[in-house]
Amino acid sequence: MVVIPVLLLLGSLFLCGGVEAQTETQTIGEMLKQAALQWKGPVTCDKWDCNCTFKRQRGCCCATNEMHEMEEDTFIKVKYLWHEISRLNDRVKAVTDATKVAFTARMNTNIATTISGSAQPCFGPFNTNVPMPFSNVTLNNGNGYNAALGAFTAPCSGVYVLSFTVYSSVEKGGRLYHKVQLMMNGKLVVSVWENNREDGEDSATQVVTLKMQRGDQVYLELMSGRKLCTSPQNNIFTGYMLYPGTYE
Ligand SMILES: *[C@@H]1O[C@H](CO)[C@@H](O)[C@H](O)[C@H]1NC(C)=O
Ligand SMILES: *[C@@H]1O[C@H](CO)[C@@H](O)[C@H](O)[C@H]1NC(C)=O
Repeated sequence: MVVIPVLLLLGSLFLCGGVEAQTETQTIGEMLKQAALQWKGPVTCDKWDCNCTFKRQRGCCCATNEMHEMEEDTFIKVKYLWHEISRLNDRVKAVTDATKVAFTARMNTNIATTISGSAQPCFGPFNTNVPMPFSNVTLNNGNGYNAALGAFTAPCSGVYVLSFTVYSSVEKGGRLYHKVQLMMNGKLVVSVWENNREDGEDSATQVVTLKMQRGDQVYLELMSGRKLCTSPQNNIFTGYMLYPGTYE
């Protein structure tokens, strides 16, 4: 059975532009028709649609139906892939956006008050542990930090780096007396403290790397009876997500 290969060959010659003289006067349909008419042998390809060949002269080869099916199939697959790619794109965006979590907050200059008998404005002392208000927020990507609470709530699970700087300055001969602790969900994580008369001004910084689940909350508290004096804006609470992920 050779009629189909011959017809396909004629078609491919046409497609490749190798039979220019013929293509000027003959359409591919005409060529196919002539080839079919000249065919003397038996037509054994049972998929061949003779009616189609002589009446419509388009898409009549044995493979037409398969070609159409393949075309349809490819279209469905491409559509599916496109859909999957845009979903993946959304998920990548969600993950990369989630990692853009960072905050920096300072205590306000006006948070310190001068009480009678004191030489400088201080935050504290209080008769209970008090969450420190870092209300001067200069960075809050991901909106995890709440200035009203002075607390940072992890917007998504991951490993976070948190850091705080504590500063205090008292009058000459006075006593630096403070302890500030980083709390997560009400539990102590780390702290810095001072209790001396050796010098009147000091600062200390703590940095921790913590696994946090979405919703975990961290804040700083000043221990009862202690105080932070002068330039409260030097007290800084800052943090950022190192990388996302869920952990036991
Ligand atoms: C060819 O077409 C004619 C009418 O156009 C129809 O009667 C006949 O059944 C068709 N033959 C085949 C094999 O489809
Ligand atoms: C808030 O912080 C900025 C930057 O450090 C500072 O310029 C500004 O004075 C602060 N505002 C208050 C109210 O402390």
